[in-house]
Amino acid sequence: MKIFLYGIREDEKGYLTEWTDVHPEVKIAYTDQFLNTETAELAKGYDGVVTLQMQAYSREALQQLHDFGISKISVRNVGLDGFDFQDLRDLGFSLTNVPVYSPNAIAEHTTSLMLRLLRRVPEFDKKFNNADYSWFPTIGEEINGKTVGIVGTGHIGSVVARIMHAMGAKVVAYDIKPNPYLENLGIYVDSLDEVLQQADILTLHTPLAKSDIHMIDANAIAKMKDGVVIINAARGGLIDTEALIAGLDSGKIGGAGLDVLEGENAVFQKKFKSLDNVKDPQFKNLISRDNVIITPHTAFYTTTAVHNMVFDSLTDNLAMLEGKEPKYPVDISED
Ligand code: COI
Repeated sequence: MKIFLYGIREDEKGYLTEWTDVHPEVKIAYTDQFLNTETAELAKGYDGVVTLQMQAYSREALQQLHDFGISKISVRNVGLDGFDFQDLRDLGFSLTNVPVYSPNAIAEHTTSLMLRLLRRVPEFDKKFNNADYSWFPTIGEEINGKTVGIVGTGHIGSVVARIMHAMGAKVVAYDIKPNPYLENLGIYVDSLDEVLQQADILTLHTPLAKSDIHMIDANAIAKMKDGVVIINAARGGLIDTEALIAGLDSGKIGGAGLDVLEGENAVFQKKFKSLDNVKDPQFKNLISRDNVIITPHTAFYTTTAVHNMVFDSLTDNLAMLEGKEPKYPVDISED
């Protein structure tokens, strides 16, 4: 069998070697480029494709893969918002993803964003860099005793719920499908509005369904407590950035920890000479604030996660190619 991989980074290469050592019968090749109409040709002659990218997968590129006889795609990540499932159905693709490469990676990063905001780390860093080692007035807050609102309690949200519970927070959660493993925590409320109204700290852990674009808009923010801290390590499109900035301006929002942003592809994973070369005005606005922490979509980025992303995607792609049931098939029958 022959598998072609797109978007391979240096840090993934060792895991590719490890995987092929245990699957010497499989020939793999890869590129650091993403899958698009210019690079689809590279997969010609291969049986399956493994990929990971934040850019949308164009129908034209998928059509090219289809024309080369490729019908099995495995993504190395969890989010599927880059695909139009109709395209996959029309072109007869089967798809797998890696939904549990490391929920802890993202949950721990989420927790660190909360802690860094509550303990005012950006302000202490600034003071420290100016040889100011004083405490006052940079007094912090504790997670213990706060109400943490969690939207989405799948693999990641449920780990966040357990961490917050263990830290002494009151957890309130909303999910259209409550997680039975969390029932003993008694955390569920009946509506998103209840979470918005009760949370001192709100954290988002849902995929970006079309109906959830701008779930957090001006209307939602108006329902929140004054001074709420918002964390988003899920998808940038869940938050209306204009509304977030307005909420920060008015003081309604006390802080934001953002691992994802709307339009993040224009900035994240790129190296600029200086901030002057970054054109995105919303990014510049957000990054200028002491009560906003931005990380460039790195919540997932741990050795455990990357190992599992490579291993699970390749193993599932091979399973599909051999006509076996993959571990993580994606149901593309509905949008
Ligand atoms: C995901 O797994 O969906 C992520 O957001 C991580 C990123 C590497 C795409």
